[in-house]
Amino acid sequence: MTRDQLLELGWILPSIAIPTSMLVALLVTAFGMGIHVPSYTGVIDPRLAAQTPPFDQPGLRQVGPDQYQAVLLAQIWYFQPREIRVPVGAQVEFVATSQDVIHGLRIQGTNVNLMLIPGQVARASARFARPGEYLFVCHEYCGVAHHTMAGKIIVEPR
Ligand code: CUA
Repeated sequence: MTRDQLLELGWILPSIAIPTSMLVALLVTAFGMGIHVPSYTGVIDPRLAAQTPPFDQPGLRQVGPDQYQAVLLAQIWYFQPREIRVPVGAQVEFVATSQDVIHGLRIQGTNVNLMLIPGQVARASARFARPGEYLFVCHEYCGVAHHTMAGKIIVEPR
């Protein structure tokens, strides 16, 4: 092979190898390891959200040692509940929906970042390793008081 052909091969091979390895990584993580983007794990009637379990009882419940479930119901322009208290080290699964328009849920200091679509149930988990206050906000524009739609998670020391 000439020097030019080698140079050309040096460009072509990575341009095949890189997308192929990305595709393999995608397939392995999605199907082999079950890693998915935060997804919608249920459908409810948004008009009846406040009467539909678990959203009829928004708030925190313990589901195991250091395991909690936090149920959040979004509406214009607040979350129910506005404040959640958990002990430090708690693993919290957030289950949330909206009963009117599209809202968002972003929790400071975690990777929880959900879109709350009326009628769809969204889930995400976070572990709170340090005591303190973690703000959560609505990050989808939902009307004139969108900027006031927030709450906080208070992580209490043991
Ligand atoms: Cu709810 Cu913005």
